Amino acid sequence: MIDFSNPALTYKRLHGGGLALPVAKACGVRGATRPKIIDATAGLGEDGFLLASLGCEVQMIERNPVMAEALRIGLAKGLENPEIQVIISRIILFNGPALDLIPKLTQDGPIDVIYLDPMFPHRKKSALVKKEMRDLRAIVGDDLDADDLLGIARQHAKRVVVKRPKGAGFLAGVITKDQIKGERGRFDIYSGLINRV
Ligand SMILES: C[S@@+](CC[C@H](N)C(=O)[O-])C[C@H]1O[C@@H](n2cnc3c(N)ncnc32)[C@H](O)[C@@H]1O
Repeated sequence: MIDFSNPALTYKRLHGGGLALPVAKACGVRGATRPKIIDATAGLGEDGFLLASLGCEVQMIERNPVMAEALRIGLAKGLENPEIQVIISRIILFNGPALDLIPKLTQDGPIDVIYLDPMFPHRKKSALVKKEMRDLRAIVGDDLDADDLLGIARQHAKRVVVKRPKGAGFLAGVITKDQIKGERGRFDIYSGLINRV
């Protein structure tokens, strides 16, 4: 069950810092700038929802059919909730693999930001990993093609943001010094429009 009006997410939406949220800073949400974002690894949809709550239009991509259905139901319920329906109306969900969908969604031109938060292969059960994330991992498993996402995303967006847990290496081993520190990890920022065909 995904409930975009759950207490933790509501607290983060209302008191999490707004434009000072690390995910917002990393995606370049500042002043009057509201980038259009593809959240290519939507999962529970929390990061995408927070970005939409700040005024960004967000296209969510989720390939796992169970998660995509949970997101679809959660978004539909959110549309009926007057407190968050404006936010939900900025979100569109696509079910499928991001490697296929990113080129399709950007065929008229690059998008401002592609946001990536693939599963990181944690070996140990860690208190730092939230229960929701452990449940999500049990459903979707590891994201074994995660490294390939970075290259495709950089071709089709002006900026790519990758969420990484504390101590994790860079996605696909591609180093960037442009980083924003978050509560439980960091956001690596990459320039886009690389080798666009
Ligand atoms: C760690 S979760 C994302 C959590 C999300 N940022 C949130 O705030 O809830 C990763 C999700 O991305 C999905 N995913 C990973 N690689 C994908 C791909 N190539 N295409 C589409 N979905 C993908 C997984 O199925 C999983 O649900």
